[in-house]
Amino acid sequence: MANTILVGAQWGDEGKGKIIDVLTEQADVVVRTQGGNNAGHTVFLGPKKYVLHLVPSGILRKSKLCVIGNGVVVDPVGLVNEIKGLRKLGVKVGSNLVVSETAHVVFPYHRELDAQREVLKGKHKIGTTKRGIGPAYGDKAARVGLRMIDLIHPERFEEKFRRRIKENNEVLKALGAKPLSFKRVHDEYCAAARYLQPFVANTVVLLHHAMREGKDILFEGAQGTFLDIDHGTYPFVTSSNTTAGGACTGSGVPPHRMDRVVGVMKAYTTRVGEGPLPTESAEIADMLHAMGREFGATTGRARRCGWFDSVATRHATMVNGIDDLAVTNLDGLDTVETIKVCIGYRADGKRLDYVPNDAQTLAECKPVYAEFEGWQQPTTACRRWKQLPAKARDYLKAIAELTGGKLAIVSVGPAREQTIFV
Ligand code: GDP
Ligand code: IMO
Ligand code: MG
Repeated sequence: MANTILVGAQWGDEGKGKIIDVLTEQADVVVRTQGGNNAGHTVFLGPKKYVLHLVPSGILRKSKLCVIGNGVVVDPVGLVNEIKGLRKLGVKVGSNLVVSETAHVVFPYHRELDAQREVLKGKHKIGTTKRGIGPAYGDKAARVGLRMIDLIHPERFEEKFRRRIKENNEVLKALGAKPLSFKRVHDEYCAAARYLQPFVANTVVLLHHAMREGKDILFEGAQGTFLDIDHGTYPFVTSSNTTAGGACTGSGVPPHRMDRVVGVMKAYTTRVGEGPLPTESAEIADMLHAMGREFGATTGRARRCGWFDSVATRHATMVNGIDDLAVTNLDGLDTVETIKVCIGYRADGKRLDYVPNDAQTLAECKPVYAEFEGWQQPTTACRRWKQLPAKARDYLKAIAELTGGKLAIVSVGPAREQTIFV
């Protein structure tokens, strides 16, 4: 399979977990390179549902090495619970999981600050997952963060952590929040450190060693292109580079070793949290929610829904260098009579064929739609391209062409076998 970067081409929750699980069959190593436990990647194995937050989705397949790279922010208590949860479900987690020494650590004061800042923002809030992601990456950029290597060295950790909690407690008090107990957090984190210590290693050296051995690596993107700190709908974004470049910086694998970029996109659009979503439609949201679909895997929040936006996905192809496209949730449109696809925006009397950088301008954009006749029959049992209704094939070909990538995979249900290779 060679080295493959998989990214979300929309606003996150594109079905990356499902596609990662499918592609992992051909990979040796699966690496998370950014984000933290704000991610929620769903994989179904038979009737069993797994939601992965920090652990790469490759963990569900035997003999695959899973790496949490340097670009990830790790909540150690969250990670311990996730590992314990997976073990309880019978998943082997041991030497098949490695965590980077230089991944930054998320602390309770990051979560608390995340929540407090959202309250302060009032109606301008981002709608974060409140996992402390923004403040943790903030500390990393400000060069005051603690890393996994600090956490697993108790003597070093105590002194550094004492300074950090002191400063953060002052900030929390200034915001009217309760300060945190040094002892309680310290002890909790030391316990997590003891549990995680065997997993922590130099993942850059390990990944380069794997490449020298001819192993194929799959880079599991979290979030999506329009949540990217640079290329997303700032400030309604997450705090990491969710686009393909983040796979390099977040792992230490250089760009010329990357062979392929797969962009995952739903056959429609969803977003969770605040910020512009030009094709948002109550009609499609009501339909999907009534089917029990589109509730967040991490926070349980109802996702906002809209028609497929090819202006956005075309932009995603541009910034990620997407080669192959995986379209998921085609079956979500099975009952729709007339399907709309956004092919341009209209703003201020002008037609735009790109995503404007300013979130305010994007929020004011009115979509220009093309319409497609719905196929109005179930696709969930289709296993081959030719089995799909002709109108569904036409729709898929059209959105792939508008997006500008090669249609490689179509997903018609959450299960592994509900996957069509085009
Ligand atoms: P991720 O964050 O990109 O991994 O996506 P999530 O797991 O948060 O959300 C995607 C949801 O869609 C999950 O509930 C998946 O089980 C589900 N899913 C993925 N592909 C398909 C599909 O083709 N059809 C249906 N019905 N569900 C799908
Ligand atoms: P996966 O990997 C969808 C959104 C939040 C919020 C914004 C910032 O499952 O696709 P943060 O907590 O990161 O500071 O929140 O980003 N967000 C996601 N939306 N899928 C995700 O991950 C997300 N991770 C963060 O809802 O709008
Ligand atoms: Mg998700």
